[in-house]
Amino acid sequence: TLTQAEKAAVVTIWAKVATQADAIGAESLERLFFSYPQTKTYFPHFDLSQGSAQLRGHGSKVMNAIGEAVKHIDDIRGALAKLSELHAYILRVDPVNFKLLSHCILCSVAARYPNDFTPEVHAAWDKFLSSVSSVLTEKYR
Ligand code: HEM
Repeated sequence: TLTQAEKAAVVTIWAKVATQADAIGAESLERLFFSYPQTKTYFPHFDLSQGSAQLRGHGSKVMNAIGEAVKHIDDIRGALAKLSELHAYILRVDPVNFKLLSHCILCSVAARYPNDFTPEVHAAWDKFLSSVSSVLTEKYR
């Protein structure tokens, strides 16, 4: 679980990220599919070319969900319960992929806000994304 200081750091960086959430979401997915092309197998029905409408739309949805998790940082499990069931029971995304996407989101945020991305913010944001990933993969068995 995140300490009070870590929660505060997440809320602070999110205030910036939220203003460009759609662009950061799309960039994160571009990084994911470019660096880890095997992840594209979950999206056979998508046009994954850079800047495609589907990629941007999906990036926006992912970042919205992360925003919900920030808003309910003391109850991430409750906030993402439906998404957790979707990813586990219906989409059956292998949990390793959550680490890859988290890494790509981290890179996108760091690249866009280099001055805000202190070691403390880096650590807090990384831990927060791990918590989100844990919630989204905990239904697997
Ligand atoms: C769908 C969030 C990780 C694959 C979704 C949706 C959201 C979401 C909000 C849309 C749900 C809806 O339409 O009701 C997230 C978050 C993640 C994450 C917050 C982690 C931070 C992943 C990973 C993969 C993945 C790692 C696979 C590499 C998918 C797929 C869909 C989906 C295939 C359905 C797309 C469609 O057909 O519209 N996700 N996701 N997700 N997610 Fe994730």
